[in-house]
Amino acid sequence: MVQAPESAVVRDWPEDGFPLGTYGPLPEEMTAAANEQLDNLAHVLESRGIRVDRPRPLDFSRPVATPEWSQQSMFGAMPVRDVLVVIGNELLEATMSFRSRWFEYLAHRPLIESYYRADPGMRWEAAPKPRLTEASYRPGFRDEYDALPYEEQIARVRAGELVLTEAEPLFDAADIARCGKDLFVQQSLATNAAGIRWLRQHLPEHRVHGVTFENLHPMHIDATWVPLRPGLVLHCAERPADEDLLQYFKINDWQVVRAATPGRQTPPPLSACSRWLSMNVLVLDPGTVCVEASETAQMEQLDRLGFEVVPVPFWDVAPFGGGLHCATLDVHREGVLEDYFP
Ligand code: NVA
Repeated sequence: MVQAPESAVVRDWPEDGFPLGTYGPLPEEMTAAANEQLDNLAHVLESRGIRVDRPRPLDFSRPVATPEWSQQSMFGAMPVRDVLVVIGNELLEATMSFRSRWFEYLAHRPLIESYYRADPGMRWEAAPKPRLTEASYRPGFRDEYDALPYEEQIARVRAGELVLTEAEPLFDAADIARCGKDLFVQQSLATNAAGIRWLRQHLPEHRVHGVTFENLHPMHIDATWVPLRPGLVLHCAERPADEDLLQYFKINDWQVVRAATPGRQTPPPLSACSRWLSMNVLVLDPGTVCVEASETAQMEQLDRLGFEVVPVPFWDVAPFGGGLHCATLDVHREGVLEDYFP
């Protein structure tokens, strides 16, 4: 879906048939092409011995409501990475911050229920369901922000003063990059300081760091700061990191590598993502990484860094919300809780 306008976000794609205020399903041929690539990704993973579970479809075109608001359409579908995060034996449902995504967890619930029944050691948690009343959004944010000079916009990003207020904890799981005990959580258009505080209090055995980057429209960390294997993180150089974050990695002997320039100049039509989906790679194990098949420079860089690179065509999925990392979630992992930053 191109979601109906709401306080958190308004889509405006006149050249692709969705001018300001309009919404509706993406064209059938785009859906078919995306489904083919998604199915292929599942086969690639299964051929490597990975069990793949698929969420159930929901009718995302339907209006939804709580007692406090109504919204003319849902949104979402494939980017499971946004909604759920797995930390040790815990599966945690994020709050989300778009009204159109409030019910998205329902696509994943049958699977979560089956995992819970099968594994007595599993912890199933959900962050407090947000109210998402008008108090959660800065009125007139987009027009006010767009009119600011670049330096002032970046100051707002650094200060976490974007569309979300601090009325209640809000976070998308895809704003979290995890390296063992350390969680790096990007304050963004979907995640506020209260959300980061909630995560910090919820995970007392972990170190939860609130981070920002020089990015005018921050939304999900996995095309900006992508851990590849112990000691190595991929960074989008167009989005400089806070000096503190760089130092934290460097003093712990991690290499911070600038991601290769994407092959694409622009995102696909009707996509809310940037061309930096090129670095939205899916690491299967510390030596193997799936990369979008047309991003040759990114594949070559990872090859030089010693990875077996698995090319996977995925560009047609991008309009539905993201890349290979966005579309997946590793639910069962082997190994112990590591402390990479002692
Ligand atoms: N919104 C970010 C992250 C996508 C995975 C971007 O487009 O770069």
